[in-house]
Order: sequence, then C-alpha cells, then structure tokens
Amino acid sequence: MQLHLLTWMEVEDYLKTSQGIIVPIGSTEQHGPMGLIGTDCICPGVIAERVGREEGVLVGPTISLGMAQHHLAFPGTISLRPSTLIALLKDYVGSLSRNGFRRFYFLNGHGGNIATVQSAFAEIYAGQSFLANPESRDIRCKLTNWYDLPEVAELARELYADKEGHHATPSEVSVTQFAYPDHIKQAELGELTPYHRFPTDAVDFRNCFPDGRMQSDSSLARPEHGERLVERCVTAVKRDYADYLKAS
Ligand code: NI
Repeated sequence: MQLHLLTWMEVEDYLKTSQGIIVPIGSTEQHGPMGLIGTDCICPGVIAERVGREEGVLVGPTISLGMAQHHLAFPGTISLRPSTLIALLKDYVGSLSRNGFRRFYFLNGHGGNIATVQSAFAEIYAGQSFLANPESRDIRCKLTNWYDLPEVAELARELYADKEGHHATPSEVSVTQFAYPDHIKQAELGELTPYHRFPTDAVDFRNCFPDGRMQSDSSLARPEHGERLVERCVTAVKRDYADYLKAS
C-alpha cells in the first residue's frame, strides 16, 4: 500500500488498525560507470513497495534526496545539506504524526545518510521532550539499512566476497538491474583504485576515486542476483518491521 495511491479516507481507515509506516530513503548521486544515479532510492523503494503490498503496511513517498556532498563533483548528483535533510525529516514525520502516525520505519539505501538521519531523530525526540501532552510524546523512529540486514549481507558476501566494496556495489547495482531490466548499463571498468582514506569533500572524492566507485566491482552485478537479494531483503524487512512494532 503506497500512500500516494490512497485517498485521505483510506489513510484514516488504516490509522484505525495501525500507526506504523515504512519510509524509503535514499539519495540521487553518481554510482560509477554502470550504476544508475537513482540506485540508492530504487533499492529501498522496490523492497518497501513489496513489503507494503504483501503485508498491508503503508509505505510513504520515497525521500529521494539525501546527503550526497561527496559525490557533487560528478554530474547528475543532487545533495541536501545535513541541516536541510534534518528539516525535511522533521516536517515529514511532523505532518504524518499530526494525524495519528506514531511508528516511523525508515528503510535506507545510502550510508551517507546515517549520521544525519540519526541527528534528525534526536531533534524529533528533543522536540517532543518539551511537550507536556503525553499523546504527542510517543513518536518513535527507526533506521534500517537494507544492505546491512544479516541475511542480505550474507548473500552479498556469498556472491561477491571482497568485490562488494563500498560504493556502486554489485549488490545494489543488481537490485536496480532486476527492478529496471531496460536500463542495464554496460561499461569498460578499469582497475579499482586502492583505498587509502575516506575523502573529505567532493573534489577530494573524485581525486581519490576517479570513476566514482569505492572498491566495488559493479561488473559482477546480474539481474538474477538482484531478484535473490530483493527476495531475502523483503523477508528480513517484514521480520524487522514486525519486531520494531512489537518492541516500541
Ligand atoms: Ni549506493
């Protein structure tokens, strides 16, 4: 069930049985010579959509812009500043909580978002700590990185071992190939650039990793791997979301 395909009356009905929502969050940024710019949104979006459909859980609009300043020296990248992303998340959660949503499960596709999303949660919790009304104080947020779920990480290791790397990974590229088979890119990939340190900013990143990949052999990606990764991830997210609702 996707929020943008419902009416407000259907949302009101949903709230009678659940106050939880899954929110995919990603980034719009370069993913090397073979990876789509939308990779980090496509992956959590596809997984969340399927969990929503199979479990009857509401899925909010994908937050498709994230913290991508490291990638700004590559054309096509769009980044928010940390302060902008924090403001966006506060308003997203604030809008939905106003009418009854209380459990926010963010399914993340981009490592660069983690610190900022956690800061946004701290801002949201600080905000409600100042409120006296107990009903307005029970919002909870959780962040899960789809690629870090144990079953998913295990399959990625099995398929790619140390060629998985850190950016434009064969596993995320596989998921996009499964989701968009008409947009599979071919490219001659050179040797992987050795990793010395994490780059500071956009220019430094492009100097350190000229083709945009960080230790990832994207050429190992296959749509059939993507199908298996999505399958595993959907099962893992169903469990993780149910555990979250139970525990919070
Ligand atoms: Ni990515």
